[in-house]
Amino acid sequence: MSSYREEGVRRVTAPDIAARKSQTPIVCLTAYTAPMAELLDPHCDLLLVGDSVGMVVHGLPNTVGVTLEMMILHGQAVMRGSRRAMVVIDMPFGSYEGSAEVAYANAARLMKETGAQAVKVEAGATIVDTIGYLVKRGIPVMGHVGLRPQAVLVDGGFKAKGRGADERARILQDAKATADAGAFAVVVEGVAEGLAREITQAIEAPTIGIGASAGCDGQILVTDDMLGLFDWTPKFVRRYADLRGEISRAVEAYAEDVRQRRFPGPAEIYFAKAV
Ligand code: KIV
Repeated sequence: MSSYREEGVRRVTAPDIAARKSQTPIVCLTAYTAPMAELLDPHCDLLLVGDSVGMVVHGLPNTVGVTLEMMILHGQAVMRGSRRAMVVIDMPFGSYEGSAEVAYANAARLMKETGAQAVKVEAGATIVDTIGYLVKRGIPVMGHVGLRPQAVLVDGGFKAKGRGADERARILQDAKATADAGAFAVVVEGVAEGLAREITQAIEAPTIGIGASAGCDGQILVTDDMLGLFDWTPKFVRRYADLRGEISRAVEAYAEDVRQRRFPGPAEIYFAKAV
C-alpha cells in the first residue's frame, strides 16, 4: 500500500467528488498498473481500475470474461502506484447482479484486498436496489449508464445509446434511479449530447462522460486509447500521443542494434574489478 499517510498526502474521497457537481470538470482516467497509476496520479482526480483491463491488457474480446481476481490484482497495483487520486474499482460481470448480498460480499472483498475507495457497477433498473444496499452498508458506489459494455452480448455489440425516444427515457430513468439510490457519481457512456446534458441537469450526483459530450461534470477515457496504443479507437477518443508508433520505432531500433552487434556497447556492460 502507498505510504501517503506518513507524507501527509490526502486522497480525494467520494464526498470530494460528489461536491464537484457543476464545479470545475472532474478529471478521470483508467489505470491498471502501478507505473501508469504513478504517472496519472498527479493530474487526475479519480483513477478507475476499469474492467476494460480485460480487453486492454489481457486481449479479451469484451469485458464479460473479467474475474474478481483480475480486478483485485490490478486494483492492488494501482493503489501502490497512486497516492492522491481517488481509486474506484469496477465490479466485473457476474459479481453483483445475482443478489444484493452477493454484491456486498464481492464489493467488500474488492475494497479490503485492494484498498480502493469505491466500486463501480453498470446500473440498469434491476441493480438500483443493490446500489442502495451497498451504500447503506458503507460502500461508496459509482453508477454507469447508457452504453454498458457488460451488456455487449445482449446488445449485439458496442452501440451508442439513447437515439430513440424510448431508450432515451429509459437511460434518463436509470441515471435518476442510480443517483437517488446514493451513487456518488454516475458514468454516462456512449449517448447523444442532448441526453448527457439532460441527465447532468436532472441528477444531483456529478456525471462523468465517456463519448457523452462536454455537457457532463467530468470526463473519463481509457488511458491506452488516448495515448494511442491501439490502431483503432472509437470516434469519441482524442489521441494525445502516438505510443504505438513510438514503441514500434523503439523496438525496431533495438532489434537492429542487436542484429548489428551495436547493443550492448561499452557503457552498457560490466567490467571485472582490477586486482
Ligand atoms: O471499464 C472501463 O474502463 C470503464 C470506462 C470506460 C468508464 O468502465
